[in-house]
Amino acid sequence: MRIGVLTGGGDCPGLNPAIRAIVMRALDYGDKLIGFRQGWKGLQEAETMPLTLDLVEPIIDQGGTILESSRTNPLKSRDSILKCLATAKKLRLDALIALGGEDTLGAAHGMCAEGLNCVGVPKTMDNDLSATDYTFGFHSALAVAVDAADRLKDTARSHRRILVLEVMGRHAGWVALHTGVSSGADYILIPEIPLDLPDLIKHVKQMVKRGKHWGLVVTSEGVKRPQTGAGAKHARDEFGHEKLGGIGGFIAAEIEKGTGVDTRYVTLGHVVRGGAPTPFDRWLATRVGIKAVEMVHDGKFDHMAALKGGNIVAVPLARAVKKLKTVPRALYEEVRTLFNQ
Ligand code: F6P
Repeated sequence: MRIGVLTGGGDCPGLNPAIRAIVMRALDYGDKLIGFRQGWKGLQEAETMPLTLDLVEPIIDQGGTILESSRTNPLKSRDSILKCLATAKKLRLDALIALGGEDTLGAAHGMCAEGLNCVGVPKTMDNDLSATDYTFGFHSALAVAVDAADRLKDTARSHRRILVLEVMGRHAGWVALHTGVSSGADYILIPEIPLDLPDLIKHVKQMVKRGKHWGLVVTSEGVKRPQTGAGAKHARDEFGHEKLGGIGGFIAAEIEKGTGVDTRYVTLGHVVRGGAPTPFDRWLATRVGIKAVEMVHDGKFDHMAALKGGNIVAVPLARAVKKLKTVPRALYEEVRTLFNQ
């Protein structure tokens, strides 16, 4: 078979191991692989690269994606859809494997309806994709964020300060929640739960009163300021997405103002998206990569390879992209009991 491969959306550790697994499994079948550069943009503009064994064999430990990525979504215009279909026809593609998050996999679902045989591979450091237990990229991002949080606690303790750590997470607070719990944070803020500044300040004051003079607060970048009207506007990228970042600074200033404790902040941003994938992410990426090729050969299109209770199974793309997987309030409340002290 002739199989195209692309990676779309934000990069994350695990993409290269997944590409490697796809290529190695497909070569086993005797397939021909065609890589598209920069996600759907590459299919649209017929920008290809060969995917060979020599190229992919050593990349299991590499972050990023050798195929490069972009947030181009072909469903945004008819012209773009037609260009993608024309490339697929010209290159005689039998199938396309799209690695991505909600946006990329939503596009794969839409392109299936246009007659392109797509199979999805879920990835995102945000872990906010439905129909899979975990996505690769999440565990690697956590490893970096927890390491940063642990380091910040050292300086917080030494200087009797509060440190606010801001991590990625636009709509879903999975990274902040897991980072906060794993680093023993004193307070965790996620986009799903409105910011309650009086409660946060009360908590810090109580902490200081009982003799703990330092603290760590972990927040998602997607946490919104309370309705003060104060400059919550962000610049937008070329696809119209807000470039988030900075809520940690606002929270730090409010804590300092409300408690009198020296408070600093760090925005981790893209740092968590880089670096070598953790062993878990290499394992997960490899397994979903292998499964995607098998799904192509089974004609299981319009599906993605998902992790379900330890098994890798095919689930409909429609189910995966219907709704973002956000943190349930009950889970947040469960964890919140730890910062009631
Ligand atoms: O991949 C998802 C994500 O990591 C979000 O958490 C974050 O807001 C966004 O990507 C940033 O993307 P970009 O690299 O396009 O700025």
